Amino acid sequence: MLKQKTVMKEKEIAYTKIDRDLDKLGPTICSISALNNVKLERGSYVKIGKDNKQYYIGQIIDGPYYVEDESARFEITFTVDLNAEIRNGIQRAVLDRPEPHTPVYSLNENLIQEFLGAKGSMTIGRLLTQEMVKIQIDSSTLTRHMGIFGTTGTGKSNTIQTMMEEAAKVGIAVLTFDVEGEYVLMNEPTDKLVDLLGKFGYKPEGIKNFSIYTPNPCVSRREDAIKFGVSFKDSDKILFSEVAGLSKIEQLFFFDLIERIKAVAPAFRSVTLEAIIERLKGRLSAQADNPTMPPYIAEAHTSLYSKLMAIHNLNMVDVKANTIKAEDILVSGKVSVIDFSDAGNQLKNIAVANILEKIFSYKMVNINSPKVLIVLEEAHGFVSKDKSQEMLGTINFLLEIARRGRKRGVCLGIVTQQPAFLPSELLELCNIRIMHRLSSTTNIDALQQSTGNVPNSMWKILPSLGLGQSIIASPRYTRSIIGQIRPVASKRIEQQYLFEPIENE
Ligand SMILES: Nc1ncnc2c1ncn2[C@@H]1O[C@H](COP(=O)(O)OP(=O)(O)OP(=O)(O)O)[C@@H](O)[C@H]1O
Ligand SMILES: [Mg+2]
Repeated sequence: MLKQKTVMKEKEIAYTKIDRDLDKLGPTICSISALNNVKLERGSYVKIGKDNKQYYIGQIIDGPYYVEDESARFEITFTVDLNAEIRNGIQRAVLDRPEPHTPVYSLNENLIQEFLGAKGSMTIGRLLTQEMVKIQIDSSTLTRHMGIFGTTGTGKSNTIQTMMEEAAKVGIAVLTFDVEGEYVLMNEPTDKLVDLLGKFGYKPEGIKNFSIYTPNPCVSRREDAIKFGVSFKDSDKILFSEVAGLSKIEQLFFFDLIERIKAVAPAFRSVTLEAIIERLKGRLSAQADNPTMPPYIAEAHTSLYSKLMAIHNLNMVDVKANTIKAEDILVSGKVSVIDFSDAGNQLKNIAVANILEKIFSYKMVNINSPKVLIVLEEAHGFVSKDKSQEMLGTINFLLEIARRGRKRGVCLGIVTQQPAFLPSELLELCNIRIMHRLSSTTNIDALQQSTGNVPNSMWKILPSLGLGQSIIASPRYTRSIIGQIRPVASKRIEQQYLFEPIENE
C-alpha cells in the first residue's frame, strides 16, 4: 500500500495533452506538455492527477519533442508510460487514461521507492533521473542469483564489489574468485572517488573480517595470503577429468585405475593422484617391454599419463598446504578472496571446482550456516558455450549449484562481458540483473530474450549508458530501474595499476 502521508507539497511540472496522433498512442501511453522552464528527463517518474486518492504513476519514456505552437514559440512534449493507477493507496492495473489538462507532478522519492519495490537493507546506488531515490535490495533477494553484465571498463567490478560490501554488512558470507587480483586490498578504505562516495552518504571503509587465499604454487601481492592445495580424494572425478582435458577413452582408463587402486589399497588409505600416475607408469613400462595393448589403447594411456603429469606438476593437488574448509568461508559477514592473479586456467578450474563442491556439500548438510554470495568473475572463461561439450560436467555442476543452492542460501554473482556466451540455462537462472553499457547486438539480444520487466524503449539506452550506470532488473522490482551504482567504499586495485607500464616497445 502506498502511504498517503508521503505525498508532500507538489509542484506542477506539466499537464496531459489532448490525444491527437492516435497511431502513436496506446492504452497505457499518454502525451504531456512541460510547463515553461521545467526540465524533464526520460526515465523520470511522474504523478498524474491532483487528487491523492486517485492518480496515475507514469514514467517518461520518450521526448522531449519541440512542437510548433500558435501561442508560444514552441511546446515541449513527452510521452509517458502509465505504470499504475493508485486508488486509496492501492496499486491497480491501468484500465483508464487521464483526461486532457490533468496536472502532472514529480513523484516524490518515498513514493517512487515504494512503487518500484526498491527497498531493503542493502543500498547499491540511486536512480539516474531522480537522484534522491536510493536503489535498495533486500538481503532475501540474494537467494536468487545475480548477473552483472557490461562491456569492458563500464563498472562491473565496481558493482560486484559494492554488492560484496553490502552483503557483508548484512551478515552474508562472501567468497570471490578474483581472476585479476583486484579485490585483495578490500580490507583497506578506498582513496578514489571519495567525494562521489560521500554524495551517496558513504565514507571510505575497509572490510573488517577479510581473508586472502592463493593456490599453493602462486604468488600473491599480499604476503599474508594463505596458500591452499586440493586433495585428490575430495575431488569430484568427473569434474577433475574434464578440467584435465581427458578424452572419453582416457577418462575410462582413469576411472579404471582409480577402481583398481581402491581395490588393493587398505580402507584407511585414500587414492592419491600420485598413486594413479605410478600405476599408469607401470602399465606403460610393461607395454614397452612386451606390447600387449592394441596401439590405440597404448596411445590413450600415454596421453592420459602426460595429462595427469601436467596436473601433478601444477604443484597443487595433494600438496602439503592446507585445503580450504567450508567452515572458513561460511562465516557471517566475512569476505574471502581467492587470488588467482598468478594462476593459469587449469589451476583456476581445479581450485574453483573443488571449493564450490565443498561449500555446496557443506551447505546441503548444514542448512543453518550463513548465506553465501559466490562471485565468479569473467564467468565465460570458466564455463562458456563453446566449451560446453568438453565441460559438460562442470556446467551441470554449476547449474546444480544454481538450481538447488537457492533454497540453501547460495547466491552466485556472475560477472561477464559476454552474457551471450554463458550457457543459456545459467543466464536464465540470473534473476537479478545489473546491466551496464553493452553495444554488441549478440549480447543485448541474449539479455533481452531472457529478461522480463524491461520495456523495449529501455533496451535502446543500453549502448549509451555512462560509467557505473545500469539497467537493473529484479523480480522484486515492479519495473526495471535505470540507476547509478555507488562507488566502492573499500579499496580496489584497478586494472591499469595491475600491470607495469610498457615503455617504448
Ligand atoms: N559506479 C561508478 N561510479 C563512478 N565511477 C565508476 C563506477 N563504476 C566504475 N567506475 C569507474 O569506471 C572505471 C572502470 O570500472 P570497472 O573497473 O569497475 O569496470 P569493469 O567493467 O569491471 O572493467 P573490466 O571489463 O576492465 O573489468 C573505473 O575507473 C571506475 O573508477
Ligand atoms: Mg572488471
